[in-house]
Amino acid sequence: MSARKPLIAGNWKMFGRRADLAEMTALAERIGPASAAIDVLICPTAPYIAAAAQTARITPILVGAQDCSPVADDAARTGEVSAAMLAETGAGYVIVGHSERRQFHGESNELVRKKAEAAMAAGLIPIVCVGETRAERDAGRATAVVAAQVAESVPDKGSNLVVAYEPVWAIGGDRIPTVPEIEEIHSVVRRTLAERFGAAADGIRILYGGSVSPKNATEVFSAAGVDGALVGRASLKAADFAGIILAHPAAVR
Ligand code: PGA
Repeated sequence: MSARKPLIAGNWKMFGRRADLAEMTALAERIGPASAAIDVLICPTAPYIAAAAQTARITPILVGAQDCSPVADDAARTGEVSAAMLAETGAGYVIVGHSERRQFHGESNELVRKKAEAAMAAGLIPIVCVGETRAERDAGRATAVVAAQVAESVPDKGSNLVVAYEPVWAIGGDRIPTVPEIEEIHSVVRRTLAERFGAAADGIRILYGGSVSPKNATEVFSAAGVDGALVGRASLKAADFAGIILAHPAAVR
């Protein structure tokens, strides 16, 4: 049993409106004491972080953001939101380098690393996302691609971060990798982190993400080296997300 506390994070993407924040309260009720053994995080869009954080004061659910500026200090960057602002608004975590940002906003590993650095400087815990495309997997390059992403996207400064392995081809669909496939990549990520951070890498949680659902959560959590999940669609409704959280072996029922 790993010493790392599991983290199950909900990425609401550009879904989840003000009315949906009620799902957080419903979630807290459904998971009950499970939240003592598992960090449960919801990442709504930036405009709702403050309201979510308000809700989180009465529930044991953590709140995070989905992106931040790579510029740490206040600056002339129209439309950007800094990590310090997110922290001030109530976020404790921030997702950086999600494949949708890499794909639709052309984010490079270098930019993702700068965002993670800005997050850490503001006291946020970055969740650095990595993952291969279908074409890269079919070409037998999955492990090499992910190792390079980890090497280039994860900052050198400190190890208070999370890595999420999200194969691009498994996001938003209904297919997930096999357990051995997940285990292979997770061990590559852990090895790459250990080479960089030594023993401190032991504390870094590595999540699996991509089409996690109440149906496959038990299988995902059975994979060696998986410290939790990053969940998209199935995090929007309390019933689905609770189904995933309660499937974790650490969940106290
Ligand atoms: P999904 O999204 O669970 O809807 O596949 C996961 C993610 O993109 O983080």
